[in-house]
Amino acid sequence: MDVEKIRKDFPILAKKYHGKTLAYLDNAASSQKPVQVVDAVRDFYLNSYANVHRGSYDLSVEATEAYEKARKRVGKHFGAKEKETIFTRNTTESLNALAYSLSDSIGEDDAIVVTEMDHHSNLVPWQQLCLRKKAELHFVEVDGNGELADFDFPSNTALFAFPHVSNVLGTVNDVEKWAKKAKKEGALVVLDGAAGAPHIPLNVHRSGVDFYAFSGHKMLGPMGSGVLWGKQELLEKMPPFLYGGSMITNVEKGKSEWADLPHKFEAGTPDAGGAIGLAKAIDYLESVGFSRILEHEHALVKKTLDLFAEIGLDVYGSPSKRTGIVSFNIRNAHAHDIGMVLGGDAIAVRAGVHCSQVLVKKLGVPATVRASYYLYNTESEVERLADSVRKAKEVFG
Ligand SMILES: Cc1ncc(COP(=O)(O)O)c(C=O)c1O
Repeated sequence: MDVEKIRKDFPILAKKYHGKTLAYLDNAASSQKPVQVVDAVRDFYLNSYANVHRGSYDLSVEATEAYEKARKRVGKHFGAKEKETIFTRNTTESLNALAYSLSDSIGEDDAIVVTEMDHHSNLVPWQQLCLRKKAELHFVEVDGNGELADFDFPSNTALFAFPHVSNVLGTVNDVEKWAKKAKKEGALVVLDGAAGAPHIPLNVHRSGVDFYAFSGHKMLGPMGSGVLWGKQELLEKMPPFLYGGSMITNVEKGKSEWADLPHKFEAGTPDAGGAIGLAKAIDYLESVGFSRILEHEHALVKKTLDLFAEIGLDVYGSPSKRTGIVSFNIRNAHAHDIGMVLGGDAIAVRAGVHCSQVLVKKLGVPATVRASYYLYNTESEVERLADSVRKAKEVFG
């Protein structure tokens, strides 16, 4: 993989702070965008822009075609039909919409199972649904390696929601294994793909899950582009979450009828530019190759762990399969202080609880520092990270 060539597509990576070139190691929060994605969005706004699915004039038809072409492209990437590929703003919106649409199928005799490594986006909507419906909420625990521990699903499990990848530890969960286990109890299976989709393509039909959600902005796409996928037969039975324009076929004073999929779940004017940018981002990632990107991340993680072992840091999790994420601390120093030192060296990392308080509490610390890599990161950035952490350890450790 020619990382130097890839970096030229991301002009922001040449920015300098405090006289040093930016080392952007916060990809689990959001990725940077290549010029190809920005150009695709720009082209839409400059040359093909109008509201979609509304006008009969040529420009609106053109905009609608561009939006629907993006849906086809994005869906093809994860093996989905267009009818099943719903555009949302992000993973959070996808999962909340799902939790509301499914709420009538959860009752007080039911249990929902989530995991201790879920991001708040895939925990709080289910937790709140359980509170509203007086249903039980169970957690699959995280073991000492940062992996999901064995779990016996209760026989009343109505729904199991879990992440493809932990956004704190980088752990890659075995989707098929967990989906199969939950399905034995007849549960609906929801996969949070926010931290997985940027690194590991999933074929939804082979995976065994019923619903899949991810965000475009973490995989080189624009902010405001997200996806909710669901099996057609399930989506057809579910009520919409948002009501309004574009999602109806007939409205009378006393009743309304819903449009076909996927439009039933896309009320209001969508972020068509975001969807077009996401399709271009997927083109870009596929042309580089997801497996090469993951291999590159693994090499960066290995170098990080070797250097961190020399320095003597607390590193969280040693999962057997992982993406390019390393969470760590300097003992007796606060993660935010470490983040400040790194920031002073133009190294962008996230310090905090990563919207995953249940997991970070389980790790027994108030916060961690997280370095997260992607296709444009380099070994020399890893060395800079280690040098800066070494310096922070001398100050705080
Ligand atoms: C695993 C996981 N789930 C959900 C989310 C929420 O994504 P968004 O903020 O794009 O909705 C994130 C974002 O950090 C994540 O890493």
